[in-house]
Amino acid sequence: MKMNQNIKLKKIYDKTFKKKNRVRETDEFKEVLKIDQWTGKTILDVGCGTGKLAYMIAKKGGKVKGIDYSTTAIETALSKYSHPNLSYEKVDVSKKISGKYDVIISIGTLEHMDQPYTMLKKFKSHLKPRGKIILTSPNWANPRGFILMTLWALFDAPITLADLHYLTPVDFIKWAEQLELKLNWKTIEHSWGGGDKLIADLKQRLPKVFKDMKMNVKQQKIDLFLKWINQRVVPITQLSEEGGAIGIYVLSKRK
Ligand SMILES: C[S@@+](CC[C@H](N)C(=O)[O-])C[C@H]1O[C@@H](n2cnc3c(N)ncnc32)[C@H](O)[C@@H]1O
Repeated sequence: MKMNQNIKLKKIYDKTFKKKNRVRETDEFKEVLKIDQWTGKTILDVGCGTGKLAYMIAKKGGKVKGIDYSTTAIETALSKYSHPNLSYEKVDVSKKISGKYDVIISIGTLEHMDQPYTMLKKFKSHLKPRGKIILTSPNWANPRGFILMTLWALFDAPITLADLHYLTPVDFIKWAEQLELKLNWKTIEHSWGGGDKLIADLKQRLPKVFKDMKMNVKQQKIDLFLKWINQRVVPITQLSEEGGAIGIYVLSKRK
């Protein structure tokens, strides 16, 4: 990644955390908490943001280090989520990781990294012998992804502020094979990937996207398109286990 792109992304995060004092608690967190027995484990949370998940794991007995390069994220984490089992460090993970861990977690962060595979390789080298990596990332292999990627890839529509990669489970399957790690994965947030939540999201998002693209698309056309998706696509995509808007991936060392 070019230097100025990295600085630009960091500024976006600083601004986001400052403005909204953004603290997330999502279904991803609940799913991640269920993946392991945390007591006594050493955990690195890469891109910990405001520290909520790191705090939840620390409360469950894990010894957690949260790292993030956003000053405002780390300041918020320190003031809101302190715990004897928990420490934070402001660091750019592409420049420095230290220590060995039972679990390395990275929630909604890999897609913002310049070189996701190189980063995963680095994570692997910081695992203890029976360690694992837990990742979540938006999944674009669903109607949400197809629609937004069509606009982005074919018409340069601005879709997200900070994502550098639009990943699907195929990326993680390939990377796990290359790294000789065992992969378990699933997706969550099916309604967002191709159900009611997607229709509601697109209803407010598409007019803004078209405005940014300086394209005059009538609201009536958008409504007809969404009606068609809702009636003819959603009933089918709801049946697919793999179509959730968020992918959860566990990469473990083979025993
Ligand atoms: C979408 S946010 C997710 C935050 C948190 N994991 C959560 O789920 O709420 C991505 C986070 O990754 C951090 N980040 C991105 N690139 C990073 C890097 N190279 N080094 C450290 N942190 C990074 C950002 O500052 C931001 O806090």
